[in-house]
Amino acid sequence: LSANNESRGTLVVFEGLDRSGKTSQCGRLVSYLEGLGHSVEIWRFPDRTTSVGQMISAYLTNKSQLDDHTIHLLFSANRWEKRSMMETKMKAGTTLIVDRYSYSGVAFSTAKGLDFEWCKAPETGLIAPDLVVYLDITPEKAAERGGYRGERYEQLEFQRKVAQHYKLLKDSSWKIVDACQPLDDVEKQVKEIVLQHIIACQKGKILSSLWS
Ligand code: TYD
Repeated sequence: LSANNESRGTLVVFEGLDRSGKTSQCGRLVSYLEGLGHSVEIWRFPDRTTSVGQMISAYLTNKSQLDDHTIHLLFSANRWEKRSMMETKMKAGTTLIVDRYSYSGVAFSTAKGLDFEWCKAPETGLIAPDLVVYLDITPEKAAERGGYRGERYEQLEFQRKVAQHYKLLKDSSWKIVDACQPLDDVEKQVKEIVLQHIIACQKGKILSSLWS
C-alpha cells in the first residue's frame, strides 16, 4: 500500500469472546473520539447488511446450514467486499473502530477444527490493523453476563475453545485489557491505549497488509 503524506486514519480492531463487551466499548470510544474532534466511524464484522452478510446471519441464527469451510470463506469475503471502502476512508483521514476482524475469523474456525494456515490464507492482503485491543474475559464470566441470543457459537463449551485459539493468534503488539473490570475502568484504559496509537499513525505510519 502506498504511503500518504497527509495524516491518515487509524485502524483499531477489537477482539474478544462473545459478551466480552466489545460492542459497548466500541460505542463509548467512538463518542469520546468524536468529542475530541476526530473523524471516526464504527464498523463491525460480520457486516450483516450485504448479501454475503445476510448469508452469514442466516447461518449464525441457525436458519441455514453450511459446511465449515464455506462459512469461513463467507466471513472472509465479507471483509474483502469492504476492503476498498476501508482504505478510502482511512486515506481520507477517518479512523475506523472495528468490532471483530480476521482474528475472529481464524479463532472461531480453528476452534471448530479447521487448519490454522488454511484459515489465515484468505485473509492475506486485507489491511492490517494498527492496533488490536483484546478484551480479555474468561468464558465462564462472559456466560454469566447473560445476553447470549441463542446464536450458533454462543455456548460455553465452544467459547472455551475459541479462547484457546485466540491465544495462539495473539502477538506481543496486542493490547490486552482485563474485561472483567467495571465497564468504566475498561473504558478508561481503552481510551488511553487508542489515543496513543492514533497519534502515532498521524505521524505517518504506513498502512500494511495482513499477515505481516
Ligand atoms: P457478532 O455479530 O460480532 O456477534 P455478537 O454481536 O453476538 O458479538 O459476531 C457473530 C459471530 O460470528 C460471533 O460468534 C463470532 C463469529 N465470527 C466468526 O466466526 N468469524 C468471523 O470472521 C467473524 C467476524 C465473526
